[in-house]
Amino acid sequence: MAKNFWETLRKRSRPILALAPMAGFTDSAFRQICKKYGADVLYSEMASVTALFYNQNKKKNLTLDLLRFNRQKEKYYVVQLFGANPEHFAVAARIITEKIKPDGIDINFGCPVPKIIKQGAGSGLMKDLAGARAVIKAVLANTDLPVSIKIRAQAGNVDVQKFLKNIIDLPVAALMIHGRTLKQGFAGQPDWKVVKEARKYFSGVILANGGINDLVSAKKALRESKADGLGLARGVLGRPWLYKEIKKDQVINLKAEEIFKIVLQQAELKQAQKGKRGLVEFRKQAVWYMQGMVGAAKLREQLVKVNSLAEIKKILK
Ligand SMILES: Cc1cc2nc3c(=O)[nH]c(=O)nc-3n(C[C@H](O)[C@H](O)[C@H](O)COP(=O)(O)O)c2cc1C
Repeated sequence: MAKNFWETLRKRSRPILALAPMAGFTDSAFRQICKKYGADVLYSEMASVTALFYNQNKKKNLTLDLLRFNRQKEKYYVVQLFGANPEHFAVAARIITEKIKPDGIDINFGCPVPKIIKQGAGSGLMKDLAGARAVIKAVLANTDLPVSIKIRAQAGNVDVQKFLKNIIDLPVAALMIHGRTLKQGFAGQPDWKVVKEARKYFSGVILANGGINDLVSAKKALRESKADGLGLARGVLGRPWLYKEIKKDQVINLKAEEIFKIVLQQAELKQAQKGKRGLVEFRKQAVWYMQGMVGAAKLREQLVKVNSLAEIKKILK
């Protein structure tokens, strides 16, 4: 059995701070930047178990490429899987365990995208108690890594309590709760009482997620949810130093030049990993760093067109 790093963290670093999974954003470069500023756990972008299942014998496997990581610079790393079919989850868990060797595997029960829900995945799987249980069991049976889950406050008529009671006997190591319902989507106030209540039905690590964008909202979430830690998502886009602010309990005001330095570091990592394509992908990340800056609109307009490091350097000068 691989070591359950979640319990190591629970003893060592409270609150546990995670980079929550974000498709299109939590790539290796951004994960490394977040780690540098104090993130304890780094989630991958969500990966399709069905793609892993059907491409298992192919030489070129884009899904596996998306999940590669730097073991030294991305500790602890969790691969998040989404899908609906337990057989696909079983095969995907084996492939990830053998070929990627992350520190943990997570299952997505929160994605609100209609196309995903229609497949019975993401929030669609949270609504389906029997299906959810079968999927968690399939993953547990096919990996020795600690398995975590990410759910919402509610999906359809399934709330946190109902969901957790249904899997109370399964050895799930950690639980991230997005404190918003499926109906709320990505806006509105998360419900921290629901997260606090979850402790009655779950003994592993609990992380609160949703709307944590600054030190004040982080402290409120911890105080009201009594969670072991936090999952930060949009709040660290263009603001990875929020981890440091929470760890130090101190607001950090960086100068524009200091922020530009982080932008360049992330751009360099992206280029090293993926060349020019990496920099094109980085455009949408770069613009997040400009929020609140003098001349932000102009900077954004230029950054969404960049193709090279030299261009980024010139703009930020
Ligand atoms: C662009 C984007 C991509 C996301 N991708 C994923 C994903 O792949 N898996 C997942 O479980 N949640 C995903 N989420 C949800 C976040 O992990 C998080 O639960 C949500 O954004 C609420 O947190 P926030 O209010 O701090 O952003 C995504 C969110 C955003 C904005």
